[in-house]
Amino acid sequence: MSDAPLPQPPAQPVPGRTAARTAAVIPAAGRGVRLGPGAPKALRTLGGTPMLIHAVRAMADSRAVSLVVVVAPPEGAAEVRTLLDAHALPERTEFVVVPGGETRQESVKLGLDALPPGYDIVLVHDAARPLVPVDTVDAVVEAVRDGAPAVVPALPLADTVKQVEPAIAPGEPEPVVATPDRSLLRAVQTPQGFDRDTLVRAHETVTGDVTDDASMIERLGAAVVTVPGHEEAFKVTRPLDLVLAEAVLARRRLNDGF
Ligand code: CTP
Ligand code: MG
Repeated sequence: MSDAPLPQPPAQPVPGRTAARTAAVIPAAGRGVRLGPGAPKALRTLGGTPMLIHAVRAMADSRAVSLVVVVAPPEGAAEVRTLLDAHALPERTEFVVVPGGETRQESVKLGLDALPPGYDIVLVHDAARPLVPVDTVDAVVEAVRDGAPAVVPALPLADTVKQVEPAIAPGEPEPVVATPDRSLLRAVQTPQGFDRDTLVRAHETVTGDVTDDASMIERLGAAVVTVPGHEEAFKVTRPLDLVLAEAVLARRRLNDGF
């Protein structure tokens, strides 16, 4: 008998799953107060290219993603549209630009409102994480396709974390209340991936301050799981993060033979 593999029948699509189309919503409407004075954070450049364009490319580079919704600074939607038109981006991806809101949560909601029907999986990705590798994006999509309603990329912590009684005045000593077991903690990143209906329901029902989308899903009582994050998916928040981002980009360009 020959060892040649038998011809395989074509893979049967799992109804509603393999057909699921994926869109990415990129909240980019923040000012970047912690980065210091200047243009809105997403429009500042890294290696000569706006941070937002890096973030858009990171999403569009995933073959799973066919639509990217950029939530622009409220007065900057036209400028963002011009930037998208001026930079080379994958042809198979569509782009939509909407103006953002006062808070990240509002901006994400405005992005979700702009999603056309037919996208069953939604990634939410901070423009402030311009260097996330495509493998991390793909791992998040894969876990949602496998049935998780909410997926977050996560990393173990390097620092020990203390819970404190916050001081009234900045800089005052703060009493330490507890030291959570670090081995049980994770720092989470974006893109976070969601079953679209679950995320929309969360944004319609959960009120109150949240710093990520997955915590809204937790409040609904639905399951959130982690996949391995990546150290290059760090958030550009303070001036030193810009130095690190420039260094990561320079190393990539060297490795890519530019
Ligand atoms: N974001 C947004 N709309 C807002 C506030 C934030 O779309 N009203 C976006 C930011 O553009 C960023 C992401 O949410 O891509 C994460 O927020 P953060 O890192 O806090 O950015 P900023 O809010 O711009 O920074 P800062 O808090 O220092 O002002
Ligand atoms: Mg902020």
